[in-house]
Amino acid sequence: MSHCIRLLSIAAKFSLLVFLLSAVFLCSSLSDRNPEFALTKTEESDLKEEKGKESVTEDDADAEDLEVFYPTNRWQTVHPGQAIPAGLHVRLNLQTGEKEAKLPDNTNEKSDMKDQKKRKRLDKVDIDSNSFTSQELKEALAKLKENEKTKSTMEVKANLEDVRKRFRPIEELKAEFEQLNMRIETDYEIMVKLINKFNSSDSTLDEKIAALYDLEYYVHQVDNAKDFLSLGGLQLMIDGLNSTEAVMKEHAAFVLGAALSSNPKVQIEAIEGGALQKLLVILATEQPLTVKKKALFALSSMLRHFPYAQQQFLKLGGLQVLRNLFKEKGMEALYVRVVTLLYDLIMEKMLLEGAQNNEDQMEEKVQQYSQVKLVPAVVEQDWCAIVSNLLALPEHDTREKVLKTVSVLMTFCKDRYRGDQRLNITLSMLRSEYEELAAEEQREGDKDGYFKELLGSINTIIQELR
Ligand SMILES: *[C@@H]1O[C@H](CO)[C@@H](O)[C@H](O)[C@H]1NC(C)=O
Ligand SMILES: *[C@@H]1O[C@H](CO)[C@@H](O)[C@H](O)[C@H]1NC(C)=O
Ligand SMILES: *[C@@H]1O[C@H](CO)[C@@H](O)[C@H](O)[C@H]1NC(C)=O
Repeated sequence: MSHCIRLLSIAAKFSLLVFLLSAVFLCSSLSDRNPEFALTKTEESDLKEEKGKESVTEDDADAEDLEVFYPTNRWQTVHPGQAIPAGLHVRLNLQTGEKEAKLPDNTNEKSDMKDQKKRKRLDKVDIDSNSFTSQELKEALAKLKENEKTKSTMEVKANLEDVRKRFRPIEELKAEFEQLNMRIETDYEIMVKLINKFNSSDSTLDEKIAALYDLEYYVHQVDNAKDFLSLGGLQLMIDGLNSTEAVMKEHAAFVLGAALSSNPKVQIEAIEGGALQKLLVILATEQPLTVKKKALFALSSMLRHFPYAQQQFLKLGGLQVLRNLFKEKGMEALYVRVVTLLYDLIMEKMLLEGAQNNEDQMEEKVQQYSQVKLVPAVVEQDWCAIVSNLLALPEHDTREKVLKTVSVLMTFCKDRYRGDQRLNITLSMLRSEYEELAAEEQREGDKDGYFKELLGSINTIIQELR
């Protein structure tokens, strides 16, 4: 699904014209997530083959006022909201995450054949792309002319002729898509609908949850998350965190976590909107595991690479809240997630300090992280033992994560660990277990296997405790 290109129609904002990607014809799969709203297309072979070959920057300068995409024989970026004439090749640039389009190569008969085959699968959408209404054409031409002032008349004429062939009348398209019970929309339009659905007092709880479920999918994308913010969706999620319905809290946290992931702008808005406190309240109070799981997910997204949030988290007693999860029954599923978060936060800071150089920006970052007094709090609350006790868990990948965390904690927890008889026994047992597994692995021909690696970590820890 991640490679799918969502097709678009143009709402009132973009006047009468609806331009359609030829991709519609090629569309061989519908979004399994949200079939009501979106048509999608995957074309992995194209993606691989063409990826990153060239990029045209000419249009990038004034992207905002381009409403019609003007196709050429070269790949060009399609800006959000731009109308795209039918009949184009469209791809998703995996490096930039941007949609790109160009005129199809007429000489490429093979791919035409391929396209035709694909069209047959969606035979109802097999549209003749040579017709258009004069009103629509006029508007399209007017827009193009505005954007083409710098080009010679001849050039423009030739281009217009080309484009003219590719536009489609809106009514015809609409009728055809209504037949298929499909609407082609931009992510933005879809999010507006979902947010309205969620926010409407006419919606049932189930409908609201369904809207959140779909929104989660959209806000993963950085640009969508920013739109989500400007549409007021973020604050609705934050408000949803103190809903009386557990399922509402769970899904609001889920959407929030997705929107926050690696998105500094959203992180800042969310912390200002009070998300951190509310997430901590959920984690600190009696809630179903499913709710706490998603709250922890959102909290992790909020804290990662955001030292200011980490600092506030510590100030608000967040570390203690996480610590208390280990005293609560039924929260075992959260243990490893908490430890992983802790590990990531400690490493984040350590790596930055290790990579210190003289760039100003870097210094500022280091300065910010220096305010995050995570390790002293970790030692004070005796996370050393909480973490090492998790070595008793049976799953290898859990142990792997815990061993990694024990290793980074070693510097601060050494004294504590040296006197820990239980840890001593656990380590010895793990060592024999992994010696056996590593030997077996080796007999099977795997010289640098997984178990050997785990054994190495254990031996290092034992060594350091001597
Ligand atoms: C949600 O609904 C309320 C009341 O109808 C309205 O005032 C508010 O602007 C809506 N929020 C969003 C983000 O649409
Ligand atoms: C959540 O709490 C805030 C204040 O902390 C309040 O304004 C809001 O109405 C509450 N929302 C719900 C759904 O209870
Ligand atoms: C564990 O305890 C034994 C003695 O009881 C000691 O010889 C050994 O070095 C200890 N191992 C570790 C890893 O601390």
